Order: sequence, then structure tokens, then C-alpha cells
Amino acid sequence: MAKTHSDIGLIGLAVMGQNLALNIADHGFQISVYNRTTEKTDKFVAENPHTPGGLVGTKTLEEFVQSLARPRKAIILVQAGRATDAVVDGLAALFEPGDIIIDGGNALWTDTIRREKALKEKGLRFIGSGVSGGEEGARFGPSLMPGGDKAAFKELEPIWKAVAAKVDRKTGKPILGAAPGKPVKGGVPCTAYIGENGAGHYVKMVHNGIEYGDMQMICEAYDLMQGLLGLKPAEMGAIFSKWNQGALDSFLIEITADILKQADPVTKKPFVDVVLDTAGQKGTGKWTSVNALDMGVAAPTIAESVFSRCLSAIKEERVAASKVLKGPKVEKVSAAKKTALIQAIHDALYCSKICSYAQGFQLMRAAQVEYNWKLNFGQIAQIWRGGCIIRAAFLQKITEAFAKDAKLANLLLDPYFNRTIQRAQANWRKVVALAAENGIPVPTFASALAYYDGYRSARLPANLLQAQRDYFGAHTYERTDQPRGKFFHIDWPEAIRPQLEA
Ligand code: 2AM
Repeated sequence: MAKTHSDIGLIGLAVMGQNLALNIADHGFQISVYNRTTEKTDKFVAENPHTPGGLVGTKTLEEFVQSLARPRKAIILVQAGRATDAVVDGLAALFEPGDIIIDGGNALWTDTIRREKALKEKGLRFIGSGVSGGEEGARFGPSLMPGGDKAAFKELEPIWKAVAAKVDRKTGKPILGAAPGKPVKGGVPCTAYIGENGAGHYVKMVHNGIEYGDMQMICEAYDLMQGLLGLKPAEMGAIFSKWNQGALDSFLIEITADILKQADPVTKKPFVDVVLDTAGQKGTGKWTSVNALDMGVAAPTIAESVFSRCLSAIKEERVAASKVLKGPKVEKVSAAKKTALIQAIHDALYCSKICSYAQGFQLMRAAQVEYNWKLNFGQIAQIWRGGCIIRAAFLQKITEAFAKDAKLANLLLDPYFNRTIQRAQANWRKVVALAAENGIPVPTFASALAYYDGYRSARLPANLLQAQRDYFGAHTYERTDQPRGKFFHIDWPEAIRPQLEA
């Protein structure tokens, strides 16, 4: 029996919207759906007549709003930016005080802050929720990062907890096996209230920045194995499968193994060999890096992963340059050293990954001060353990690190990660050196190593830099023999006169 009013509604029936709506209906919630183009709504509802909760198709926004139980809850899953604003405005005109609008798109967190403020003035409640896991995640369990009005999230929480990915209570591993109409039972849901206004979308953005880093690091490992060892894609696929059994166990390593073993259906050649080496991007990695620069937080590995995509995109220019600019001749590594080098590349990947995540968490730490959020970093790592693209066994270690010390200044200082890098850093350094000697670009491996070495340096050469600034711009300097915060300046023309006269 259909209820007179739906538990929740969803606007925007592209693939993500359809999948999230089906996931919600699978969990017994009746959901109203609306799409600007009505044919899409009709087709979607007609194709899915029997769901546990039931889908209610609506043809106008008014009909959609009237179909919802109070306080009304509507999820928006349309393109970020102008489309989201248009739908928010449409809903705001029809919603009543206390009703809740949830933006599940990849909104820029500052837009979410703006929208929440504007809606609050109308008595409407707004939640900006990161939704990660792609189409599959939306259908069978995404990682959900909601931010905004806390009381409003309480209303949404039963639905969000029900539809989120689940991980095993003890191991933290994703519980798989959901099928249409048959969601998984039990486990810890990969969602939790993140913080006020734009916090959820901010954390989702950093998640995506970290994802960019993870992907580029894997690509560098692949490039080294083919460049230095001449391994074939299928051989590398087997290595990634093996890595997936250990510390690197993760979704991205798993799909990399699948991809490398895959043959092109047309040519029967290894699939990766027929894919053009130019990467696209939608912007969340760029936003993360721009924000790192804006806040003055070092996130070089994440930024390098964005720059790597930029460099990949200028394919024709690179092809032309490759005929002019010469590098060293690649020295193939002997078969006897093959196993050791594969292990070294594994270690370089793991160490770089630790640094990249350390940077992501540093960013969130700075943002919470900037925006007055109270982020729970252990919990954030916890909700990334399942559902999302960066899900990995490794996140359990991060959860544990913050459980031991919620105020941990940097992940690198956690005893487990510290020990891991101690053990593996010789290999990491060897790989970065070998890459440089052979002219193989490893921007994320190398920048992560520079980050590690910079972070652990009690003294950096910024003393000279500050002296330069004082010289040409009278920017002043602090002294090693004086308390912090006391600034000095030298009259440089006067100071160097004896030198010039000598
Ligand atoms: P459509 O099917 O009518 O194009 C992803 O593109 C989703 O966002 C689609 O469901 C699309 O609706 C919707 N969308 C894009 N721009 C929109 C707008 N300005 N107003 C409402 N929905 C929009």
C-alpha cells in the first residue's frame, strides 16, 4: 500500500540520481522523484515498478513538493553550480519553514555555505552532503558526508544510515553483496554528521583531492614497472592483485589490476595500451589544490596529481617536444634485481600515499579553524572505509591513529605510520633516485618525499629566503637568538658597503 506522502524526494534523474533513488527505495522508504524532463521520470518509474519502498513519479515541482511528508526532505542531484541554484530556488519558493533541502552533488563548499545562509533566512534547512562511490556506490551503498543543519540531519539520519555503505564492525572492511531489492544487513554505516554549513562538501572535496593523488601514484608505479623492468600489462596486473592482498588493499588497486589484465575487445591488445594518455578532470582536485594555496597549507602531492593531468592533456605538444628534448637513456634493471625493485616501488607507493593523506588531513585541520567547524578526523577516515573510491584497508590505520590521539598534529607522527616509513624509506628514496636517473617522471612520489623531508626538518633554508626578502623588500626577519614575533631589518646598502669597498 502506497503511503499518502513519501518519506523523501529526489530531483535529478541522471544515473547518480536514479541509483540513489533505487537504493533509498530498496531500504523501504517511499521516494518521490522529479526530473526537469518528464520523459525521464516516466521511464524511470515504469522500469522500476516493484521496489520495497516504492517510487512516486511527479510531473511538476508543485506536485513533487505536495507529495512529501512534513518536514519535507528533498535531495537534489543535478550538476553543481547554476543548475543546483536553479533547483534550490525552485524548491525554496514552494517549501515551508522547517523543510529540508539536501544537495547531494559535488558542490563547491563555499556555494553550500552561501546557500545554507540564504535558505536559513527563509526558515528552510539545508544539508550539503558529499556522496562518493560513483554509480555503483549510489546504487548499493555510497560513503555519505553530510554537513549543515544538525537538527535537520537528525531527520535525514535514518535514511542516510540505511542507504550508506556498510563496513564490518571489527575489521572495517566493506560488506559486499548488495543486490537490487536486497540491501546488506548489519555493519557500520559509512556516514556521520561532518559539521556545520559547507563542512560535508569540503570533506568530500578533500576526499576527491586524495583520490586524484592515489590514482596518479598508482600510475607512477605502473610507469616505473614498464619503464625500468619492461613488464607487460598482464604481469603488472598480477603484481597489483598481489599488492591488493597486503597493506595497499584498496578499491583503486583492485580496479587497476582488473584494467591491466583486460584485453581490448577490438584489437585484442592489452586494453591500457590502446587508451590515449590524456586525462580529463572535473575540478574537485583543482579546488582542493587552490584551497591549499589559499590557506597556505602544503599539499604538494595532491597538487602534483592535478598538474600531472594538465601535462597529460597537452598530448600533441608533448609528442613534438619528445622529438627535441633529450633525457638519459633508460637503463633496464636486470632480472636478478626485479623482485627487489618491485618491492621498492610498492614501498614508494605506500610511503607516498601516507604523505598524500597526511596533506589531506592537514588541509581539513586548517579548514576547520578557518570555518569554525569541529571535524572528527577519525570518523572521517571511518566513513571513507567503504562505499567511496578511496576505500582502503589503510583507512582503518588512520581511524586507529586518530582514536589514539584525536589531536594528532600530522599523520606522519602517528607511531604506526612513522614506523612504516622508517622501514620503507630506503626503498622509497631508491625509487625516486632511479626515476630521476632514468628520466621517468614521478611527480607524486618525489613531491611526497620532499614533503616528508621538509616536514621532518628542524631547519629549512628559509633563513636565506627571508634574508633575501629583507634585502630587496625590507620585509624584516626574525632572529634565531631572539623570541618569535620580534622583527628586525638591516639597512642593506649600509651593511654591504664594506663588502663593496673591499
Ligand atoms: P534533464 O534530464 O532535464 O536534463 C544531470 O544533468 C541532471 O541535472 C539531469 O537530471 C538534468 O535534467 C538535471 N538538470 C540540469 N540542469 C538543470 C536545471 N537547470 N534545472 C533542473 N534540472 C537540471
